[in-house]
Amino acid sequence: MKDINIVVSHSPQTYSVFIESGLLHSIFDYIEVKKYTAFYVISDSNISDLYVPMVKKSLQEHTEKTVRTYIFEAGEKNKHLQTVEKMWQDMADNKLDRNVLVIALGGGVVTDMAGFVAATYLRGVDYISIPTTLEGMVDASVGGKTGINLGHLKNYIGAFRQPKAVLIDIDTLKTLPDRAFLQGYAEVLKHGLIVDNEYFDEASRKSPLDMSADELIGVISRSVEIKAEIVQEDEKEIGARKLLNFGHTIGHVLESLSMNTDELLFHGEAVSIGMIAEAKISEKLGMIKESEFKKIEDAISQVGLPVRFKGTNSIDSVFDMLITDKKNRGGKIKWTLLTRIGEADFNIEIGEKFVREGIDYILT
Ligand SMILES: NC(=O)c1ccc[n+]([C@@H]2O[C@H](COP(=O)([O-])OP(=O)(O)OC[C@H]3O[C@@H](n4cnc5c(N)ncnc54)[C@H](O)[C@@H]3O)[C@@H](O)[C@H]2O)c1
Ligand SMILES: [Zn+2]
Repeated sequence: MKDINIVVSHSPQTYSVFIESGLLHSIFDYIEVKKYTAFYVISDSNISDLYVPMVKKSLQEHTEKTVRTYIFEAGEKNKHLQTVEKMWQDMADNKLDRNVLVIALGGGVVTDMAGFVAATYLRGVDYISIPTTLEGMVDASVGGKTGINLGHLKNYIGAFRQPKAVLIDIDTLKTLPDRAFLQGYAEVLKHGLIVDNEYFDEASRKSPLDMSADELIGVISRSVEIKAEIVQEDEKEIGARKLLNFGHTIGHVLESLSMNTDELLFHGEAVSIGMIAEAKISEKLGMIKESEFKKIEDAISQVGLPVRFKGTNSIDSVFDMLITDKKNRGGKIKWTLLTRIGEADFNIEIGEKFVREGIDYILT
């Protein structure tokens, strides 16, 4: 069992992230049941048969209090206000008061949306996160960013709200298809690249698909620690939290472009290729050595993540979308780039030539 304590700056709140195999059978042990009048489990249609019964059972065996569940149809396309409104309505119809505990059980879509419901229902109630994807475990459930999409604008509406606890049961990863499991590993490697050289070496030795439970717990713990350290320092993304954007500036564009092709990329896959492009830009700027770049590319490719983008061979189409994307958000692109393996810098402005070189590399 790993227990990581997270202290959020400028906030009296601290919470723990528990990482264990088989934890879902005893979630009762991690919840201050006496404090709450009811439990509201929010999950999606893919998780409902897999894990909701187990969580319900664990609670109902120990308390007579109401345990209600709300299941919405799985998928990013449902991460919007209408789904949230239905949950608010359901909670109100069932007379859930301010002492309800919301339990977010699922991937990042569930934890983002359930966290937002908790942040807003009756001006805010407590919640805990139980992430069931690797992306959810090492990224979405740590840091207190909650929210929904507004039309095509991703995560445009939301609130910062920290959970009371994060419960990670690595056994839940077993029911994910391999590709969906692996894609979350891009964020793990990113954490190594931006702050911890040794961890990057260790994490890139094997694919997570081949890891034992102990190895997985070790890797996930360090990743959660890194994200927590960064978020503790800069909850609202004024400074250090921007380090986490490494690979995402170009990654987001590739993710969007892939939607118009036959080879739709998962977020983590797009980030993985984005990290190659942005590491290349770092190399072209003389910030990292060629040998370091080579090591990064070999490592990412060795764990089974993609390193090239097949959706187009036009540098212009990627570049133009990058610029449009940025203009829509108002302003110049500020890059997060590597200064060596295990160290990065943010708010860097660079010339177009370097951006094009980075893009060129991942299209060849
Ligand atoms: N708040 C943050 O800081 C933050 C950080 C990263 C990502 N996110 C958000 O997270 C979302 C992506 O998260 P995700 O990749 O977990 O997506 P997701 O929640 O859509 O899960 C992916 C798919 O896997 C299914 N699933 C989840 N757990 C499963 C399991 N154990 N077994 C079988 N199927 C399972 C889901 O039903 C879904 O179909 C995005 O909306 C993104 O914006 C938020
Ligand atoms: Zn990401």
